Amino acid sequence: MKKIISVSMAIIMLLQVCVFAFADFNVSKLTKPEWDVLYDSLKDDNTLPMLCVGANESEVGLCWHADKDTAVAQVRLADNAEMNKAKIFEGETTESENDEQVVCRVTITGLEENSTYYYQWYTDNGWSESCKYETKSFGNHKALVIGDIQIGGQTESTEVQSQNGYTWNSVLVEALSKNPDASFMLSAGDNTSTGKTAAEWQTLLMPEALRGLPLALAIGNHDKKGMMYNYYTNMPNEYYGEYFEGLDRDFWFRHGDVLYLVFDACSPAAADHMAMAKEAVEANPDAKWRIGVMHQALFGPGYSVLDPETSILLNAVFSPIFDSYDLDLVINGHSHLQGRSHFIYESTVVGKAESGETYTDPFGTVYLNTNAICDQNSFGASSMYTAYSFFDNDVTTYTTLEFEDDTLKIETRRGDNSELLDSLTLKKTKDFNDNGILQKLHRFIYKFVEFLGIVYQKIDNVVVKIRGGHF
Ligand SMILES: [Fe+2]
Repeated sequence: MKKIISVSMAIIMLLQVCVFAFADFNVSKLTKPEWDVLYDSLKDDNTLPMLCVGANESEVGLCWHADKDTAVAQVRLADNAEMNKAKIFEGETTESENDEQVVCRVTITGLEENSTYYYQWYTDNGWSESCKYETKSFGNHKALVIGDIQIGGQTESTEVQSQNGYTWNSVLVEALSKNPDASFMLSAGDNTSTGKTAAEWQTLLMPEALRGLPLALAIGNHDKKGMMYNYYTNMPNEYYGEYFEGLDRDFWFRHGDVLYLVFDACSPAAADHMAMAKEAVEANPDAKWRIGVMHQALFGPGYSVLDPETSILLNAVFSPIFDSYDLDLVINGHSHLQGRSHFIYESTVVGKAESGETYTDPFGTVYLNTNAICDQNSFGASSMYTAYSFFDNDVTTYTTLEFEDDTLKIETRRGDNSELLDSLTLKKTKDFNDNGILQKLHRFIYKFVEFLGIVYQKIDNVVVKIRGGHF
């Protein structure tokens, strides 16, 4: 009887959220007992979908697992919850990590801005319930940023996963309730902890808010411990390169005036990372802003500054790409500490970026470091690069990037009550110059880095084998 009541409550909660409560992410916080009911009802159900960012603002992707005997990679889209005059989008199925299911991936195209849609995906039991998805402004827009969701707590314990899921859901609901105009969410990687279990992705996908919020997830070293990322995501413009191996991939997407470049920083294949950046930049010559995402923290507060693998090797691979293509902001995670750098160029502070200030046409790149959602144990100290740091490990955080005409406002807030911690505004009046002498010099010298990157990759393969996975 208890089980029937629990499942019924969970179904009612899901239906409420999917059909009724999504106006402007009008989600309410669940208590821990309410979350536990939801968690228990969904933990054995490996079929929740992920809404993913599209290649541009008029697209979103969907990805879900389905029984291999009945799977149909189709999504229905309509402007009403009854799904009258629904349009069908077809995708493809590919093998999954198990023998019973396949992965369905579909891209929805032709979306219009500030519009309300309802979608259904084809499940093991036919069409799913209809979920509401509201597009926001296509030009000026707001992105949410988090890092190290790290579901799993480095164990496979369901108790830990449920607690992680509760924390993740609480931050999501807090961020969305205060930012109903957010278009999507960027994660700086380590979305999961072991990278090896379907259960981690299921927990990550449980928050109902995610049925209406597209995700852009970078790969972190913990995701890289297994191959699960490969079966649970549908990122746009994935770049598989010439030297990338296994799970390795970069991707990019465009939203309004902004080009987002997401790097798999666990791969040292420098030539592929530079080639992806070149492809993305050349396909988007009119983008006003360039935002990078990579997992490891190059100039954040924390031990990464002292870690030679990050501060020397990854710095050598990635900094020249960011300098060469003049990225405005690079988002990192990994250290589980919130912080932000001054303006950096060639690993040197070239200008102050004080909290609360506005800078017009600054030279150099700002590096933003995200705190972890789960697994917040860490330690750190400010360095010469640090403009802002927040070392309270018990407090989650989230950041918003707000693009409005020629300004980018970066604000970091507490994940429990949205108190403002740090802000910085960048104003841009000039276009990028990708063909200056310095830029060309960076790319010329980088040929040497590309060669060393291949050597590093070979050594890294051996080290990873000895370690039994990526750190
Ligand atoms: Fe990490």
